[in-house]
Amino acid sequence: MSKTQKSLLALLSVLLVFFGFIVVRIGVVKPVSTAKVAMIPAGEYDSAVWGQYYPLQYQSFLKNAEMAPSPTGYGGSIKVQKSEMQPEILVNFKGMPFSKDYTEDRGHVYTMADLMETKRIGPASKGACITCKTPYLEKMVKEYGWGYASKPLSEIIDYAKKEHGSISCAQCHDPATMNLRVINPAFNEAMERRGIDVSKASREDMRNYVCAQCHVEYYFVPGSFQVVFPWDKGFKPAEMYAYYADKPNNFQGDWEHPDSKVQMLKAQHPDYETYITGTHGKSGVSCADCHMPYMRKDGQKYSSHWMTSPQKHLEESCGQCHNQGKAWMSERIKTIQDQAFEMQHMAGLNVAKAHEAIKKANEAAEVDQMKLAEARELVRKAQWYWDIVAAESSMGFHNPDQVITTCGQANEFAHKAIEAANKAAAIDTL
Ligand code: HEC
Ligand code: HEC
Ligand code: HEC
Ligand code: HEC
Repeated sequence: MSKTQKSLLALLSVLLVFFGFIVVRIGVVKPVSTAKVAMIPAGEYDSAVWGQYYPLQYQSFLKNAEMAPSPTGYGGSIKVQKSEMQPEILVNFKGMPFSKDYTEDRGHVYTMADLMETKRIGPASKGACITCKTPYLEKMVKEYGWGYASKPLSEIIDYAKKEHGSISCAQCHDPATMNLRVINPAFNEAMERRGIDVSKASREDMRNYVCAQCHVEYYFVPGSFQVVFPWDKGFKPAEMYAYYADKPNNFQGDWEHPDSKVQMLKAQHPDYETYITGTHGKSGVSCADCHMPYMRKDGQKYSSHWMTSPQKHLEESCGQCHNQGKAWMSERIKTIQDQAFEMQHMAGLNVAKAHEAIKKANEAAEVDQMKLAEARELVRKAQWYWDIVAAESSMGFHNPDQVITTCGQANEFAHKAIEAANKAAAIDTL
């Protein structure tokens, strides 16, 4: 090595150490207390066993059992019927299970209890329903592949042993390495169709992917009940609607509405899709940044595993990037949610009116069937645009701009549906 090379190398090392230090200081790379990887066997689904090795994460995980209303009045961790605030749910989901029982979600430790309690399941329910409720999914997939999805739910529930059946550490961590992992094959398959190999994902992406294996829109393939995420054309409401329009895997819809006689779609908690197309998603802020902020205890830094409303720890969740203070953040969340709720509720009520208008037109003595078919397509679309907002968990916060626009579109389609229905039956609305 020449003298110049040597001094260049020395300079480079100094620079590396210096910038490495800066990077750590400003928090781009967040060092976290990493307890040494314990010897947890594959197939251990009891969080308490993992908790012996990772007590800080486990203690915070246990808090998922806490139940409290949300400070903004939306969301929260207590089981209340959503139809109390939104009676239009009873009309819009008429003839399908969500009109019987549709409660606010609560913590991860309740997934199996809530699955067994809900009036939405019955003797005809299939194993597919368990996909996002339990780490036993890993075992079922190994044993049956997608075959578990079409087995009776009653049989599959015994598989997910009741006492440790709900979401636990194994859902997101490989026991041998503690690396983040996804166990739901539907997520890997959907990403593969988008040209993304999840096994090569960065750590940052995995901080979203572990959540996106469940907090997403999906449908069941007719016959096999295989779970599929409708992402082939994109994550936006219009792109997912266009995907469904092609009748993928012969999927026509979730049920026929008894009033309007339309094959409808039921949107399911599209949290990832909504967030990823919003400001935070596009800026690389992950689900874990807000819902699993870094905490400190006895000088040790760890990720909170209490996956709940960030309102319970705004300083830790938002304060790492926003310095406007707790009151500002709390006010922003409440304002965004109030606006989203108002628009969403209005759209939902208009969709309900559209179902009624189509029913009335259908009962008329003379009806223009072409016009009525147009009205039916419009109410189907209106309800999708409304539901993709209503079924999302954050009441607009994950993507405020898109949510308001989508509600505006839902309102427009609902009005057009009513207009077309009235025209079809020559009902004079003037
Ligand atoms: C829903 C997914 C999920 C579940 C369930 C989960 N974790 Fe984590 N865990 C994460 C994420 C995300 C991180 C952050 C990883 C990163 O940034 O590299 C993490 C980080 C960790 C770390 C690394 C140190 C830290 O605090 O950041 C440990 C240890 C850990 N989890 C233990 C557990 C234990 C024990 C359980 C069960 C009681 C558990 N996890 C359940 C998602 C999960
Ligand atoms: C295995 C599927 C699954 C995974 C993985 C998962 N969730 Fe959930 N999550 C659920 C289900 C199901 C519920 C509703 C449970 C209930 O009401 O019984 C829920 C509820 C929640 C709630 C509401 C809690 C409350 O108190 O109201 C939050 C917040 C949440 N999840 C965030 C996350 C985040 C963040 C991640 C990733 C780090 C994640 N979840 C990963 C399935 C999952
Ligand atoms: C920029 C911060 C931020 C990011 C990123 C974020 N969230 Fe949220 N999330 C929030 C806020 C704020 C709320 C509203 C909480 C409330 O109503 O009290 C919320 C609400 C939720 C809820 C409903 C909680 C309840 O009380 O019922 C779920 C579930 C959820 N988020 C999941 C996710 C998932 C999954 C991701 C990633 C795909 C994600 N969030 C990304 C901030 C965030
Ligand atoms: C890891 C960094 C990060 C975290 C954590 C974070 N934000 Fe942000 N936030 C951003 C960035 C980046 C933007 C976009 C650029 C800007 O407006 O400064 C943004 C934009 C916003 C906006 C304006 C855009 C919009 O979507 O309405 C609000 C409001 C906001 N954040 C609130 C919050 C709240 C409340 C939390 C905690 C629940 C939070 N943020 C957590 C980085 C973050």
